[in-house]
Amino acid sequence: MSLPLHDPARPLTVLGIESSCDDTASAIIRHAAPARPEILSNVVWGQAALHADFGGVVPEIAARAHAEKLDLAVEAALAQADLRLNTLDAIAVTAGPGLIGGVLSSVMLARGLSAATGLPLIGVNHLAGHALTPRLTDGIAFPYLMLLVSGGHCQFLLVEGPDRFTRLGGTIDDAPGEAFDKVARLLALPQPGGPSVEIEAREGNPKRFALPRPLMDRPGCDMSFSGLKTAVLRTRDALVAEHGGLRRADRADLCASFQAAVADLLATKTQRALKIYMEHSAPTAPVIAVAGGVAANQTLRGALEAVANAASVRFLAPPLSLCTDNAAMIAWAGIEQLRAGIAPGQGFTARPRWPLDDRTAPMLGSGKKGAKA
Ligand code: KG4
Ligand code: ZN
Repeated sequence: MSLPLHDPARPLTVLGIESSCDDTASAIIRHAAPARPEILSNVVWGQAALHADFGGVVPEIAARAHAEKLDLAVEAALAQADLRLNTLDAIAVTAGPGLIGGVLSSVMLARGLSAATGLPLIGVNHLAGHALTPRLTDGIAFPYLMLLVSGGHCQFLLVEGPDRFTRLGGTIDDAPGEAFDKVARLLALPQPGGPSVEIEAREGNPKRFALPRPLMDRPGCDMSFSGLKTAVLRTRDALVAEHGGLRRADRADLCASFQAAVADLLATKTQRALKIYMEHSAPTAPVIAVAGGVAANQTLRGALEAVANAASVRFLAPPLSLCTDNAAMIAWAGIEQLRAGIAPGQGFTARPRWPLDDRTAPMLGSGKKGAKA
């Protein structure tokens, strides 16, 4: 008779499945406490090429491609880990938030696998996956502060347990990655916009254009990025009208000025979020962690790290492959829930919106990557 799943002495091997946006992903994690969790496989197949002509993720195309590839991704994850389904302990699947067609593709596959094997099934919140990643990579203790900054998400979370999240604030319109992508499009730079804008900005003067800092002076941790993008558009049009086109230096200066504004906004709001975290949680070993593709930006990282250092708080950025969408974080969130005895069981439904913290008001808007829960 094997130990129950929540018994810390029982090693757990869990399959994760994720397809809530534009990555088809499957991974396997093994956790035999007190050893650190081991990522046995981590398969992520991006769909960028499928959406390249459309300037954003097309939900129907994404869902179809996920449905075609998910079972192959699971097979690849099992093969890389040299395991078979019947040697696993559970299956964890993203049940939301995200583009509903993609979420349903994973949930249906996972339900089928669970029914065929008898393995327990855990419905995981995608944002919980991101938020719990620093415990997978660095084994940090609760409570910590998390800043999620990607193409679809932007929020500060106080993470107090595997199912205890308090949202301190977030964007009220675009996510920062979306703003980077739109600015790149305005300046005829390739997608994804973040890396293109960052490269261009290296040659530029971040002080040349005084772009706005929306909501900077408003108390609290809410943010706004859509006005910034509009200001870039106006500045571009003024430059084109003046010079009959956009000169190389203008473009670089505009990218640098935009990037500086985003870094400034996020750093100021991070200072506020840190203050709330320190006062509310009084942590003995305080940590602020970042996740999401935008966390790859060196200027932004530098600005956040400076804020953390000034407050004597550890700054933690997991490796980029685990900061962006992946299924290892979903398998890990499943393990966290099993260990805590809070896995919700079969009864979950696929949800396009699923705020981690339902005590705070739902987010406004829904960007190119679906609902911002
Ligand atoms: O986390 P992610 O891979 O996917 C989701 O949005 O879920 O993030 C992708 C976003 C894109 O908008 C991309 O432009 C942005 O992250 N990004 C960056 C950088 N690298 C990727 N933004 C700014 N600077 C970068 N170096
Ligand atoms: Zn994500």
